Amino acid sequence: ISFRKAQFLMSAPTLSQCPDDSGCEVAFAGRSNAGKSSAINALTNNAKLARTSKTPGRTQLLNFFSLTEQCRLVDLPGYGFAKVPKAMKKEWDQHLAEYLQRRQSLRGLVLLMDIRHPLQDYDWQMIRWASLSEMPVHILLTKADKLNNGPAKSVLLKVQRELQAAGFSEHVSLQTFSSLKKTGLEELETTLMQWLSA
Ligand code: GTP
Ligand code: MG
Repeated sequence: ISFRKAQFLMSAPTLSQCPDDSGCEVAFAGRSNAGKSSAINALTNNAKLARTSKTPGRTQLLNFFSLTEQCRLVDLPGYGFAKVPKAMKKEWDQHLAEYLQRRQSLRGLVLLMDIRHPLQDYDWQMIRWASLSEMPVHILLTKADKLNNGPAKSVLLKVQRELQAAGFSEHVSLQTFSSLKKTGLEELETTLMQWLSA
């Protein structure tokens, strides 16, 4: 698998419109503006692959990128975006839950959190959903460039302790990450390779 060869495959508004549920895929989830699309671009070394934006709520569909004929990356819509109408928000949440619970080819979830605001309510919900189906979760504490190394490391340890205290250490791993400075890329690649080749 070469992440640099990723290509846009398709966008899907609902689970029924997703590509065939065969092979393997890894999804990027997290609050709006956490940096999901940017992380996919950093990983694939293609700044134009996934659309990024300063305005939260940019990604409103499930966007699929193919790595090989059998493997895909998925850019999920950001959850917890307050400025859309309530009915629309509810609909997104349903699609997201449905995707996470029913998608057979999903091998793992990369959960992005802004290192300055980790473990919000929605993040816990994603961790709970994933753990119910024993889906591995790899947390990226993103925008790590916004903090110095010391404070970034403290957040990492604090989040690790909280996950442990809540009983989620088994299927959850975590690291700091910056799409801007391209730090943490190798660690992310290693995890994804493990999931996709298992
Ligand atoms: P939605 O599609 O709305 O859910 O957002 P997203 O999670 O895909 O976020 P996106 O990648 O569009 O990034 C949101 C904003 O954060 C953009 O202005 C990015 O430039 C910025 N950003 C993303 N990653 C980083 C990072 O590592 N460091 C810094 N400083 N800014 C970042
Ligand atoms: Mg996005």
